[in-house]
Amino acid sequence: MFICRRMRSKLGVWRLYVLLVVYVACSGNSAAAGIKSTLQCNVDPNSRFDCAPEKDLSKEQCLARKCCHSPGEKGPGMGQPSCFYPPTYPTYKMSNLTQTETGYYATLTRSVPTFMPRDIMTLHLNVMFETPTRLRFTIKDPANKRYEVPIPTPEVNGQASSTQYDVQFNEDPFGLIVKRKSNGQVLLNTTVAPLLFADQFLQISTSLPSNYLYGLGEHLTSLNLDLKWTRLTFWNRDLIPRKDANLYGTHPFYLSMENDGSAHGVFLLNSNAMDVLLQEAPALTWRTIGGIFDFYVFLGPEPKTVIRQYHEVIGFPFMPPFWGLGFHLSRWGYNSTNMTREAVNNLTEAEFPLDVLWNDIDYLDGYRDFTFDPERFGDLPEMVDECHEKGLKYVLIVEPAISSSDPPGTYLPFEDGLKRQVFITNETGHPLEGKVWPGPNVYPDFTNQETTQWWYEHLKVFHEKVAFDGMWLDMNEPTNLLNGSMYGCPKNDLENPPYVPAVVGGTLQSKTICLSSKQNMSTHYNLHNLYGLTETVASHHALVKIRKKRPFIISRSTYAGHGHYAGHWTGDVESTWEQLYHTIPAIILSNMYGIPMVGADLCGFVGDVTEELCLRWSQLGAFYPFMRNHNTIESKSQEPYVFSEQTQQAMKSALLTRYSLLPYLYTLFVNAHNIGDTVNRALFMEFPSDQNTWTIDRQFLWGEALLITPVLEEGKTEVNGYFPAGTWYSAGSNVTIQSDGQWILLPAPLGVINIHFRGGCILPTQTPGMSAEETRKSDLILVVALDTNGFARGDVYWDDGESLDTFQKGDYTQVVFLATHGVLLSEVIRVNSQADSVKLGMVQVYGVADPPSKVLVNGKPYEQYSYDQDTKILTISQLCLPLGKPCTIIWS
Ligand code: NOJ
Repeated sequence: MFICRRMRSKLGVWRLYVLLVVYVACSGNSAAAGIKSTLQCNVDPNSRFDCAPEKDLSKEQCLARKCCHSPGEKGPGMGQPSCFYPPTYPTYKMSNLTQTETGYYATLTRSVPTFMPRDIMTLHLNVMFETPTRLRFTIKDPANKRYEVPIPTPEVNGQASSTQYDVQFNEDPFGLIVKRKSNGQVLLNTTVAPLLFADQFLQISTSLPSNYLYGLGEHLTSLNLDLKWTRLTFWNRDLIPRKDANLYGTHPFYLSMENDGSAHGVFLLNSNAMDVLLQEAPALTWRTIGGIFDFYVFLGPEPKTVIRQYHEVIGFPFMPPFWGLGFHLSRWGYNSTNMTREAVNNLTEAEFPLDVLWNDIDYLDGYRDFTFDPERFGDLPEMVDECHEKGLKYVLIVEPAISSSDPPGTYLPFEDGLKRQVFITNETGHPLEGKVWPGPNVYPDFTNQETTQWWYEHLKVFHEKVAFDGMWLDMNEPTNLLNGSMYGCPKNDLENPPYVPAVVGGTLQSKTICLSSKQNMSTHYNLHNLYGLTETVASHHALVKIRKKRPFIISRSTYAGHGHYAGHWTGDVESTWEQLYHTIPAIILSNMYGIPMVGADLCGFVGDVTEELCLRWSQLGAFYPFMRNHNTIESKSQEPYVFSEQTQQAMKSALLTRYSLLPYLYTLFVNAHNIGDTVNRALFMEFPSDQNTWTIDRQFLWGEALLITPVLEEGKTEVNGYFPAGTWYSAGSNVTIQSDGQWILLPAPLGVINIHFRGGCILPTQTPGMSAEETRKSDLILVVALDTNGFARGDVYWDDGESLDTFQKGDYTQVVFLATHGVLLSEVIRVNSQADSVKLGMVQVYGVADPPSKVLVNGKPYEQYSYDQDTKILTISQLCLPLGKPCTIIWS
């Protein structure tokens, strides 16, 4: 820690330097010159912070605010601001810096009010050195308790004895500077712009160490965010994904790459409507309209450790059941049980593997939750039983909106909920009514314990009729087809805040409920972005109680911490090539947010898909952690079986490749669940010292061992892929790439998706069956991909695939494999009874330079092996070695 009383003058020098440079470039800027006498306005255009966030200001209005004006630039928002803060703009001053048990504490005071109503003139800063790699700081109003996000985070009482970060305090103007101790790299510097903290407008800016910034979703962006005056708005909303729009989820977390390949992350634990502004200084501004500032800084220093440190705060991902990793079939428009059955039959006849069948809102009676249509879906219970007999699982859609206009005595969930006061209320204390599928409806308040109990009870009764295995939570932003409610919204500060983030529709009420409506924990103004999360938590606990097995839930709306309970799909994506590409960054980022169980609707949701696009999408989708073909009611069918024989073969081949990799995928999920790893991973997360990887988002990895290079363009039968330095073995064509870190043009005919094993890794695989369960029954096949030193390692985790907390209870088998210099060893870390049923049947060693003259298995000569001189693959078969027993295989 270092208190920098003279920081201002130091920064002044820095600024002056920048100004001198810029002054030459901007010498024609007469407006700045006009106000030069009173304000210091020669600020680098990229380092200008907007002083007119809430509306356009004329030059006079801007100067009256004591800000600088530079005409001819874009207005506030997306462009370079025409009205910007001078370095001397009044902000908070720090005093009483005191040491505490957890770090430091100080008072921040402002003497001049800002242009926003209800400035909080005195604030408290609390800096907590939580762990060696995690710093937390909050800025709060000491006089009035303000809303704070109610998600559980680690409670830390003391402070880390040594830290990888150094914190400097600037007294006047107040600012925090966080540096990486090892090299002095500045990670955060909040002195770059004034701090504002009014009741409904909180803003803080920071410099960034580089232009390589990732996260701040959910938005339709590339992986590496564009810093050119970009604005990212957080306000969960039902919308066909498009650029520059607030979408379904809120994750105020970013990861930033530093120029030396280190990484750090920042999480703002705030759930209010928010804008984040990026500019090429490079700098970032957080602008939120409520709550407090509660920041976490993660020091990494590798991207993977940054992500793990973030997940330690928000909760590690839930462990999905094994069947959840199989293929899911769904569409809006399976209009009856017979039609649904027919889809399954068609798929089975076409010999595609299948694990999970879904029904959309078609099954509901009058679109009311906990019902099914007596005519078209009268035998739904039987259909679900048949699914189970065939080894399939069944997931159905559940909406939060509860129908509120049925004749008295006809719809118990509503009447019971009314009695138990489980619904969100309006200003008169009555349940707020909006409109979704069932017509008029009310919204359960999942921040109320009574609601979670009510939700559980009705799900339980329904489950007794229809034995569903998983839940699909849709329209939970929450969506309202009206703005606000059936009767509008009151006029007050919550409905009309002084600053409205750049939300689609221009108003926060757009397609959702009134902001001043009341929930048990707070107002909807504060809780809106948590609606999906709170519904998910209630559903997760309900399913655990009902099924007593691992819950499988996919939700559209999310907030930080969601992945601890459920998965996500990327919503109503269009069937276009552009959207196909965008699913890659979306899925990588969801993994970074701790939601590895994620996928996009295969072949797209909106619009008719072409055969070629659907094939390419199915090939890529075979490597989404969550693989579901889903379609809107208006589009033509896109199940695999509707396409030509040739396309079906190609889709099948991708699907079977996925199924063969299920043990590897499952082990990746275990590592996400236990240590906060990602399943789908960006190349830069695995190869941070190779700058070429930092912008790659048309390829990705599964874990560390498998590189996927899909075709994302129409009519292409070749694809350019980047191969970080090392050995890569093509899984299909048996071609080995020895890369120095280079781009390689790969053949990619229609039937092929390129996947490569990374030298140095061992992957557990199996012979694919027609379901995940059938696949699980086959022997394990180890793929040993040797690096140039003849070394490889990997592991496998095995349990019953659906019991709760197997890891926590130690009810699993884990085996680590090591290969070095012609020896493959297995080390059994833990063993349980399931290990007896799993045998290691085959080992395929890639990269064996010379034909072996003998093979020993557990010390005994072994004859069942073959060696391919062209591919350099040694195959040792018919092994039948129990997974739970250590083994040694030697070739020489
Ligand atoms: C919107 C969802 O995003 C979509 O997947 C679903 O099919 C429709 N609602 C109908 O339920």
